[in-house]
Formats: sequence, structure tokens, C-alpha cells
Amino acid sequence: MSERIEDIAEAMVLPGQGILAADESTGTIKKRFDSIGVENTLENRQAYRELLFRSAEPMNERVSGVILFEETLHQKAVDGTPFVDLIRATNAVPGIKADKGAVPLPGHPGETVTEGLDGLGDRLKGWRDAGALFAKWRAVITIDDRLPSYGGIRANAHALARYAALCQQHGLVPIVEPEVQMDADPADHTIERCHEVTSTVLQVVFNELREQNVKLEGMILKPNMVVPGSKCPTQASAEEVAAHTVSVLKQHVPAAVPGVAFLSGGQGDIEATANLNAMNANYDTPWALTYSYGRALQASCLKAWGGNAHNIPAAQSAFKNRADMNGLAALGNWNEGLERA
Ligand code: 13P
Repeated sequence: MSERIEDIAEAMVLPGQGILAADESTGTIKKRFDSIGVENTLENRQAYRELLFRSAEPMNERVSGVILFEETLHQKAVDGTPFVDLIRATNAVPGIKADKGAVPLPGHPGETVTEGLDGLGDRLKGWRDAGALFAKWRAVITIDDRLPSYGGIRANAHALARYAALCQQHGLVPIVEPEVQMDADPADHTIERCHEVTSTVLQVVFNELREQNVKLEGMILKPNMVVPGSKCPTQASAEEVAAHTVSVLKQHVPAAVPGVAFLSGGQGDIEATANLNAMNANYDTPWALTYSYGRALQASCLKAWGGNAHNIPAAQSAFKNRADMNGLAALGNWNEGLERA
């Protein structure tokens, strides 16, 4: 694999492939394990991640990058093979969750800012030595009738840009993730409100990236899709989501960015696939439009596994199915009939 960040970024968004977000923190994976009645132990996390990374077909054909939590970056499979080597053997690029999570932003009730800049350069260097070629930093923006504030957006965008510049300095591709949430409380905003907020957020984020001299050819954007809040009485079709999302991205994302890899953000599995497909089937864009899903790639796999080693083949087949459907959606070649087949 080339060492140039532009080449690494291109390799993360190959046609018909996307990114597996398997970087759930210990707290977040506990929530996922609780939902299937599995205890959150080191061994169970290892067993679950091993079943994902040993899923030969989806990993070889549909996954071009894997985001890892720090524990997993340094972890080995049961036979002693480092997870990073398992991932590399499938030609997927290993990456690392670099942020330390969102904390309340002083002076801004109801808003958060993502922490983790202090000492980040040294940590990036260590992660690069351990095999990570890209990183991810997630900023969280919540909508209600008065939020987000400009100050809240600006603080998050500045941190994203500082992080992105540090990544590039240490030879890692930054995934820049400003997430406008669809399922935080209150989540009753319309698609138009999500459009307006996402537009402002991306404008401020790209201003900050420019001010920090981030090389756009060597980054990946990981945004939310423009969707109504999950509790909004008026929901939207995949065509409406695609129209709003592509319109906002075209306004703010320079053509130099190689790829846009969406988060799923609480969308249903098929909804996340249908929305991505509608964008690729109906619009020409200067950047690849693909997935960097956590929940929408893993929910059915987790459920099929249920913590039982006997269920590993069924779990891997559920993962393959979602990866295939989303891979087709990244090409605009998915349709609902394929789900039933
Ligand atoms: P979801 O697809 O579950 O939103 O997770 C993606 C992710 O990496 C969030 O930071």
C-alpha cells in the first residue's frame, strides 16, 4: 500500500466498497451487547470482532476500510494473528477512532464538544506504528428549536480541523465526521430543518479545514444524510433524502475531496441502503458516495451471533448480506427485490 495520504484516501472508497465502522467504545459496545444479552467482556469483544474480520467475502469484496477502537487495534485473534494483519490480508485499510468522545460545552447548554486534541500527535504516531493508516473524529451536533448555536458548531469544526491537520502531519488520512443527529432527544425536526443545519455545519467545517491547511485530497468526509428526525411525523422517501443530501453536499464539499462515506445514525438497515442507492442511482457527483456504517452493517450480524460460537456462520452470512446490499447501493445498483432474494 502506498504511503501517500491521497492514495490511502482513494483506497478507502473503492467502487462498490465502503467502510466498516467497528470502533464502538467499550461503553457503546456494551449497549450493543446488552441488546443481545451478551456480557461486555474482553473475550466477547475479541470473539465478535474476530467473526467480523474473518468474514472472507464481505471483507475482501465490500469493505475497503475498518475503523477500530484502540483496544482492537492492539488485539489479536484467538490464534495469535493481530487483527490489523487479518484486516490487511483482505486489502482493507485499518484505521483508529482518535477522539475521546463528546463532553458538555461550557456556556452552551445542551451542546457538546469533542475532546482529544492534547497529546494527539504522539498518539497518532503510536497508532501509525501499530498499523493504522487513517483516523476518525466525530463531532456531535444536536437539533432542537434553538440549537445548534453558531458557537457550538464553530468549536466542533475547529477541533475537527485541528485533528485533521495533525493526522496528515503524521501520515494518516483523517475521516472528518460532523454528525447532525437524527435520534437524539428532541428528534422531531423536519427534513428541511436538517437540511439547513447540515448546510451551516458543512460550511463552517470546510472553512476551518481550509484555515488549518488540511489537504482536501487526503481526507474523507463522514456526514449524516439529510433526513427528518426519527420522531418527525412527516418522514421522507429515499428520493427526497437523496435530493436534499446531494444538494447540501454539492454546495459545500469541494470536488478535491475523494470520498463521502455516510454514517447510518440510527436509520434502519434497509432505509440506510435505499437512501445511499437513491443518491448513486440518480446523481453524478465529483466524490465517491459510500457507507461508513456501524449499526446498519452490524445490527443483523450481532443479532444472529447472540454471543454463541455455533452461530458464527449465520452471523457472518448476515454481515455479508448487508455488506453486499450496501456495496450495490454504493454503485446505484440496489433494488428492494434483492433484499427479498
Ligand atoms: P452508525 O453508522 O451506527 O451511526 O455509526 C457510525 C459511526 O462511526 C459513528 O461515529
